[in-house]
Amino acid sequence: MLVLLKQNYEALSREAAHIISNAVRSNPAIKLGLATGSTTIGVYRELVRLHREEGLDFSRVVTFNLDEYLGISPEHPHSFHHFMLEHFFAHVNIDPSDGTIASDYEQYCAAYEADIEGAGGIDLQILGIGRNGHIGFNEPSSSFASKTHLKVLTKATVDDNRKFFAACEIIPRCAITMGIGSILASKRVLILATGGAKAAAVANAIEGPVTAYVPASALQFHANATAIVDEEAGSRLKLKDYYRDVMEMTELFTPGRSS
Ligand code: GLP
Repeated sequence: MLVLLKQNYEALSREAAHIISNAVRSNPAIKLGLATGSTTIGVYRELVRLHREEGLDFSRVVTFNLDEYLGISPEHPHSFHHFMLEHFFAHVNIDPSDGTIASDYEQYCAAYEADIEGAGGIDLQILGIGRNGHIGFNEPSSSFASKTHLKVLTKATVDDNRKFFAACEIIPRCAITMGIGSILASKRVLILATGGAKAAAVANAIEGPVTAYVPASALQFHANATAIVDEEAGSRLKLKDYYRDVMEMTELFTPGRSS
């Protein structure tokens, strides 16, 4: 995995946006898989800036949301559909999906996979990571071959999401998520992590054994995966010096590549 260590959250967000915007410029009809979570907010903010100030064009871009809670409407302020509108889609020239999950979940999941396949697959998938190493809502023990499916969330994830909901609100216990197999099928993956709370998950995912206990460790099998982490999230990586060497050498061969 290519590991890019960034000084702070702003630098991480700029680097991720730089990679995404380059990908959009070289393939204006790119298929993007998009993640929610506080980690991604800075990336979407930077992409919106690039759209406004540099005319980055999303008119032909097709997007697939990585996951969604079950039991709340797309209009709910904490649905991932709403998150994407609020932080990205409403501010750029992109065609957002409608976000409604059909009540026949099995059929809905199969149709979602068929849509991805029909579009020619995802070119670039953006991911965050949960404290327990989950990607999307693929909790520990998820199959590495899984496709879009219904997932029961762990107590740790429900507790982490509590901060987004009002005290008296019911917090979703289930979600629909692209599977690890769906994620591995995308042509390129970008996983982002910020802050010390993610340090153990990041180290386990990048350098630990590949295990269903750490779903993000499946990315070690992906031929084109990049992790962008800030100082704190990367603090438990053993090979930090090596990753810095790689970044330095890459800069030598392709100056200006990283921000
Ligand atoms: C949720 C999402 C994940 C995301 C994770 C991390 O669980 N399903 O896709 O990676 O949150 O969120 P945050 O960036 O807020 O830490």
